[in-house]
Amino acid sequence: MLILNWKMNPKSLTEANKLIFAYEKQIQDLKIKPRSILIAPPSLFLPVLVQKHPDFIFGGQNCSDQDQGALTGEISASMLKSAGAGFVILGHSERKKMGESLALINRKIIAALKNKIKVVLCFGEIVKPKNFQTAPSEWRRQAKILFNQLDQFKNLGRDLIVAFEPAWAISVNRQGSVSIEYLNLFIRWFRAETEKKIKHLPLIYGGSVDAKVVKLFQSAEIKGFLIGSKSLEPSEFGKISRAYYN
Ligand code: PGA
Repeated sequence: MLILNWKMNPKSLTEANKLIFAYEKQIQDLKIKPRSILIAPPSLFLPVLVQKHPDFIFGGQNCSDQDQGALTGEISASMLKSAGAGFVILGHSERKKMGESLALINRKIIAALKNKIKVVLCFGEIVKPKNFQTAPSEWRRQAKILFNQLDQFKNLGRDLIVAFEPAWAISVNRQGSVSIEYLNLFIRWFRAETEKKIKHLPLIYGGSVDAKVVKLFQSAEIKGFLIGSKSLEPSEFGKISRAYYN
């Protein structure tokens, strides 16, 4: 699966529609099952995009941990759902940078799953570890909080996707993606650490993804990619799709 995170872009609904028409042009010759590309636009655009572009699945970039109430500016999981969202990205590194705690992200995951909306959980450290062997202790610390009380949900393997998305590797930080060795270290750690408690969750990777990274990570046991900045450039999206689906 390819999950496209538009972040706070584009500037208008007209441009959002144009972007999707440009995607369609890019992928018209590829054999891609409808609805296997997931798009997370600004949530304000959701109802229109969902209606106009039924070949894609749309989702939110965030939601509240509460269902409703005196929380100015917040959007709940049930509101996203009623706007047609099929999933929600939670715990994105940019939101953590804005101050979101792991405990809050955990409550958001629970709120989304209770509202039967799939979660794409971003997981990963903020700062690049000097020695990669030290990373698992930070991952363990995060997992303990993020996965707290999730055993109440029966079908987690279907409803929760984990995106390995270390903040330092996303494109704004200009350090490039993680290496394949580091990705594999994470995958091995994740499987060993969580498998006993949480059944086989799909893993994807996000952080400076372009067509080269997609090719490089072909051998890794992941189910797809979370794509930020390159998703805003239709020709780059086309290259990524060709690398991934061909
Ligand atoms: P990027 O963003 O592809 O621009 O690095 C990734 C993300 O949204 O996590």
